[in-house]
Amino acid sequence: MARIVIIGSGVVGQATGKGFTKKGHGVSYVDINPQTINRLRAEGLDAMMAAEVEWDEVEVVMLAVSTPSVDGDIVLDYIKSAAADVGRGLAQTDNYITVVVRSTVPPTTTERVLTPILEQTSGKRVGEGFGMAMNPEFLRAVSNEQDFARPWITVLGVNDGYTAEILDELYKPFGALIVHCTPTEAEMIKYVNNVYNAVKISYFNEVHAICQHFGLDSNLIGAAVARSAESMWNPLYGTRGGVPYGGACLPKDTVAFLSFVRQHGLQHLMLEATHEVNSRLEAWVPAATSPDKIEEMLVATRQRDTGDEELLERVAGAQYVVTL
Ligand SMILES: NC(=O)c1ccc[n+]([C@@H]2O[C@H](COP(=O)([O-])OP(=O)(O)OC[C@H]3O[C@@H](n4cnc5c(N)ncnc54)[C@H](O)[C@@H]3O)[C@@H](O)[C@H]2O)c1
Repeated sequence: MARIVIIGSGVVGQATGKGFTKKGHGVSYVDINPQTINRLRAEGLDAMMAAEVEWDEVEVVMLAVSTPSVDGDIVLDYIKSAAADVGRGLAQTDNYITVVVRSTVPPTTTERVLTPILEQTSGKRVGEGFGMAMNPEFLRAVSNEQDFARPWITVLGVNDGYTAEILDELYKPFGALIVHCTPTEAEMIKYVNNVYNAVKISYFNEVHAICQHFGLDSNLIGAAVARSAESMWNPLYGTRGGVPYGGACLPKDTVAFLSFVRQHGLQHLMLEATHEVNSRLEAWVPAATSPDKIEEMLVATRQRDTGDEELLERVAGAQYVVTL
């Protein structure tokens, strides 16, 4: 059983810590907020400031501190400061500690910002003196503990096999599909995941406004489209990049609907952007019809696979797998 320290004991930190505790691991919580520490202690949990951690006792550190956006820019000060605390801790022990970034951070942050801080403050090299991973969290705030306990995916961004093995062991018991990739790919997956959700919500909000104009029930329309549109029921539809949409219907219907909406004095910003993105791409790549069937992707990803038998075995039974 691993001894885990969670740095940043808010929503994600506590859900992570409580989830691993239920699987039998030893978990300590670190925070900079004394009230949070006192509250966790009152619950009987092992909580402290970073300076109080016994680093010889630690095997895995998970960074789950806040990464807020202020005036449109992400603030990395908290996670940089937490990484420096961990680096100073690494310097106090001969243990090979695995450091895992769980906070949402822009692509390249783990490798280009946090790893150098850890190396400088610890005097150790990544992959030699400590392991580094990016493991984004997909839980929803409202159901955080349940979501952590029953994840639908585990993304492990790691650059070395030893760290991957340690995290595989930690996460296998949760039973979700495990995607292996680089730390930067893991960071990108998390952002694209959230931004895609935001794009979908915004699209249907514009549909809602157009429906209201015509006195139509947008919930009925949304629910029917959820059943009818291939991009809704085929999860890989449209995810293969670099190919504009084509075929008999999408080019003509997008333009026609945009024109129809404009004729009624309405705006459809998402559709304008969609048309613009596709037109630019079409200028240098030929359009394709339905390139994204699950089976084709499945065969393609397996063909592209490194041939890692153990990995294939581990994901056997999954509906589809992305191996990178
Ligand atoms: N809340 C969610 O649903 C959710 C889901 C997925 C991912 N995330 C991401 O996870 C990260 C954490 O989110 P959260 O909702 O748990 O935030 P939170 O505000 O609930 O908790 C963050 C905690 O980090 C502490 N902290 C800040 N700086 C610290 C430091 N240097 N050392 C120790 N502790 C420090 C804060 O005091 C706070 O208790 C963010 O990057 C967020 O984007 C959040």
